[in-house]
Amino acid sequence: MADPLAWCAGELGRLEREDLRRHPATLSSPQGPEVVVGGRWVIQLCSNDYLGLAADPRLRRAAAAAAGRWGAGSGASRLVSGTSDLHRRLEASLARLKGREDAIVFSSGYLANAGTIPALAGRQDVVFSDELNHASIIDGCRLSGARVVVYRHADVAGLERALCSVEARRRLVVTDTVFSMQGDLAPVPDLARVCERHGAMLMVDDAHATGLLEAGAGAGIVMSTLSKALGSAGGFVAGSRDLVEWLRNRARSYVFDTAPPPAAVGAAIEAVRIIAAEPHRGPDVVAAAARLAQALAGLGYDVGQPSAAIVPVFVGDGPDGMALSSRLLEHGIFVPAIRPPSVPPGTARLRVTVTAAHTEEHLAAAVEAFASVRRGAGPRQPRPHPAPVGGIDPRILGAGGVFVTGTGTGVGKTVVAAALARTLQGAGLAVAAMKPVQTGTSEGADDLAFIRAAGGVPAARCVAPYALRRPLAPSVAARMEDTTLDPGRIVDDFRRLRGQTDVVVVEGAGGLLVPFSDSTDMADLASALGIPLLVVALPGLGTLNHITLTLEAATTRGLEIAGVVLCGFPAEPGLAEATNPGAIAELAGVVPHLAGLDVDRGIVPPAFEPEPWLVGRLGGSFDVAAFLRLLSRCGELV
Ligand SMILES: Cc1ncc(COP(=O)(O)O)c(C=O)c1O
Repeated sequence: MADPLAWCAGELGRLEREDLRRHPATLSSPQGPEVVVGGRWVIQLCSNDYLGLAADPRLRRAAAAAAGRWGAGSGASRLVSGTSDLHRRLEASLARLKGREDAIVFSSGYLANAGTIPALAGRQDVVFSDELNHASIIDGCRLSGARVVVYRHADVAGLERALCSVEARRRLVVTDTVFSMQGDLAPVPDLARVCERHGAMLMVDDAHATGLLEAGAGAGIVMSTLSKALGSAGGFVAGSRDLVEWLRNRARSYVFDTAPPPAAVGAAIEAVRIIAAEPHRGPDVVAAAARLAQALAGLGYDVGQPSAAIVPVFVGDGPDGMALSSRLLEHGIFVPAIRPPSVPPGTARLRVTVTAAHTEEHLAAAVEAFASVRRGAGPRQPRPHPAPVGGIDPRILGAGGVFVTGTGTGVGKTVVAAALARTLQGAGLAVAAMKPVQTGTSEGADDLAFIRAAGGVPAARCVAPYALRRPLAPSVAARMEDTTLDPGRIVDDFRRLRGQTDVVVVEGAGGLLVPFSDSTDMADLASALGIPLLVVALPGLGTLNHITLTLEAATTRGLEIAGVVLCGFPAEPGLAEATNPGAIAELAGVVPHLAGLDVDRGIVPPAFEPEPWLVGRLGGSFDVAAFLRLLSRCGELV
């Protein structure tokens, strides 16, 4: 029998022929100003993560904590299995954020629109909708069964004429606040006046304004999303107590949808807190977007005036947009083209967005790339990606770095970092070394000097941005020395080193959760650098607990584990040392140890040649033969 779904392949072929088939890029890094596309770090100019919060360590922690406390799922619709106080707490904070009596949370912004509009208007009613409104509004209008009057974009007079001529039981005017593909602002105060004159309800979709602009005043119904500036997922509507209560009873995408997962809710609560505590973020982004628009217009591009963070660069037809987008990617800028049917025919564009995570350097590099493309200049050749090197974890090569951390202090991180640097260089790679912060300099501590001497890393490629006198946790030492440590500086220095070398070996301070600044710890640094962890531990009794705690903390922060190294393995292992490698294999899936290194005596081990043990281990594989050799050395104890 013929496949009744065969038409799918035919239709996909048609989309392909008409150049309309979507092939989204695959990212192998979290959201951020730089992302990995096709194995290469590029500057991202297309995310709606406007305040740079999606990968903010505070949101990651809040999401993990909420999942830990409340579980992964919400069980059912809130009308079926009850509501959690976590969800209610988020709604209260969103109501405060929008200055309304109450708020209701949906699983997405799309569902907020798809449920709210039909709850407000039905067959006897009329919805007046701006012609450039978002698809979720259009779909909400369709689902409502109401008559829909589409008015010209931002045309208040046209809307008023329509209101004068169309009578109905209820009338609802709905508009994006900041238009998602155009970046301009709806005339909300004028719309509010017209609606008031004609007794119509006004609903604004603040998806691209929340966190950036105060723009919805005068609207009785404020819809927005948690998935853009708030860095999480979900949607909401804020308004009067009665409105919200009505939606809880009648919005089908609330009534018949499982409540958003605790992790998303926890992250959103933290985002709202950050927005209130750091009010400069939004205005900074809006100002940066305006500067970028001006710079691109100065290069001769057809640029729309941004009202928030969206800078449209118009390119006419779809193929032109695709060509510009792929030229920019060659120049290290990731900004896909938006084509029909997402925008009207003939108005394809690059939808450039600016976020709080972009630095001046990112934006200058973006302008330079647009300028080069306009001049027809070829891209500067990026450093070629190092070819796979036998046994070395491809994740380290792909990320361009590895973060050496420990289960505590004094476990041998520096020795392992030096051995690692030596090993990587022995494999023909260009290596840099970085110590984000060196503490205890008054006692002569200088880990980079050791890595330079024992690891053979050239001095010019050894960077320690901060040095603190006291042998304390960095944030504590910094406070006592009246200074502050900036994680952004570490990220900038790391990126610079990574641009010059194949692998940057970064040695953290103390263990993984040691505080770096007031709001970040070592795990946050590793996550901001986007590199996997190499965990150094002692081999003896107690190490299983320490390793497990470290691995669990790493996993909840989304960090990858390149390996676990047992440092200072004794020449004559005791029972614990002999059995721990096997136990760690079960815990971590990797069995490492670095025989022959003795950090306690501070000796530079003679065997710093490429270590077969280490190389194999960085590949994440368990070298059974070597393990058996080890066991045979302490056979009488096993
Ligand atoms: C204007 C507008 N409204 C609603 C949505 C839907 O929000 P969400 O992504 O949370 O579903 C979007 C974007 O996706 C949007 O741009």
